[in-house]
Amino acid sequence: MALTLFASRGCLVLSLFFALALTLIVPQPAEAAPRAFFVFGDSLVDNGNNNYLATTARADTPPYGIDYPTRRPTGRFSNGLNIPDFISRQLGAESTLPYLSPELTGQRLLVGANFASAGIGVLNDTGIQFVNIIRMFRQFDYFQQYQRRVAAIIGPQRTQRLVNEALVLITVGGNDFVNNYYLVPFSARSRQFSLPDYVKYVISEYKKLLMRLYELGARRVLVTGTGPLGCVPAELAQRSRNGECSAELQRAAALYNPQLVQMIRELNSQYGSDVFVAVNTGQMQNDFISNPQAYGFTTSKIACCGQGRFNGLGLCTVASNLCPNRDLYAFWDPFHPSERANGIIVRQFMTSGSTTYMYPMNLSTIMALDSRI
Ligand SMILES: *[C@@H]1O[C@H](CO)[C@@H](O)[C@H](O)[C@H]1NC(C)=O
Ligand SMILES: *[C@@H]1O[C@H](CO)[C@@H](O)[C@H](O)[C@H]1NC(C)=O
Repeated sequence: MALTLFASRGCLVLSLFFALALTLIVPQPAEAAPRAFFVFGDSLVDNGNNNYLATTARADTPPYGIDYPTRRPTGRFSNGLNIPDFISRQLGAESTLPYLSPELTGQRLLVGANFASAGIGVLNDTGIQFVNIIRMFRQFDYFQQYQRRVAAIIGPQRTQRLVNEALVLITVGGNDFVNNYYLVPFSARSRQFSLPDYVKYVISEYKKLLMRLYELGARRVLVTGTGPLGCVPAELAQRSRNGECSAELQRAAALYNPQLVQMIRELNSQYGSDVFVAVNTGQMQNDFISNPQAYGFTTSKIACCGQGRFNGLGLCTVASNLCPNRDLYAFWDPFHPSERANGIIVRQFMTSGSTTYMYPMNLSTIMALDSRI
């Protein structure tokens, strides 16, 4: 672990040099707008769509957003910025607005859009307890609707180019375990499937979603694996004796993540192009979970905002315990990384030189490649 860390630090310095050199050498067209960015998935990437829905899966009350520039809750499940925000920064773009935001009109549509909705999974029956959330097939329906709206402004051809040249992020799958298979003992899915068979089923359904995304015009898609499901404060609170990660949930993640990479390889060879890029967010988070101090965190087990053991029980609300310095915590609430952790994760997207982290390439390489089209 320590070795990987040093290696990636070394890489960071080198690659910063490289990026700097590149910006100096390659002439940038002055009027070039940043490429569009589209986001699909669950609470890890929701920028606030659920604020507009009748659901309990929402982050629109304090202390959510306490470190956001406005110091107000936005619907992001973070004390400040989330992963899509840090990616937007890398693209040199403003953050994507939630698709349901009334502010998303006119020229702002050209920045892209965020379709994610907290609580959803690959499967339609994931997150049923949250009732009214935007399941994956609906997120894609909205993406189609978005394209019609943009076509009305810039015409169908430019719209198709905007979509083909966009960067896409999809983060989904964790809830199919924590908010479905493992939600209650003897859940319907756990009675129907053994864990290995369930993982195969979720992956096969996920493959259909990615194929649909391709059909809808996406040509460069970051696909994140699940985080270390058994190590989040919520699971420590319920399943851990002494702070060790839940073996059962870690087994689920260990089965799921490699099969996701395999499925992505198959799709890329089917399309004859590296459309899909596997992002090993599980390993990225494991690095700071196993050695939080190396990343400047005092703990990766206790959530900053919550209550009970590990601050991992219930929701983060105005009545919860709240840590004074959010930057010292890897987890903001019982399930979601802190702003600083999100920043570290996206830095790994950019700089990782290892295909274990980013397969087949990192985001810097993607940006350099795609800018030459
Ligand atoms: C989810 O529901 C939609 C709409 O009813 C349907 O088209 C889709 O096939 C369903 N997906 C799964 C995995 O059952
Ligand atoms: C990205 O990946 C490439 C190829 O593995 C590597 O050479 C480079 O150092 C990495 N980081 C950056 C910032 O490009």
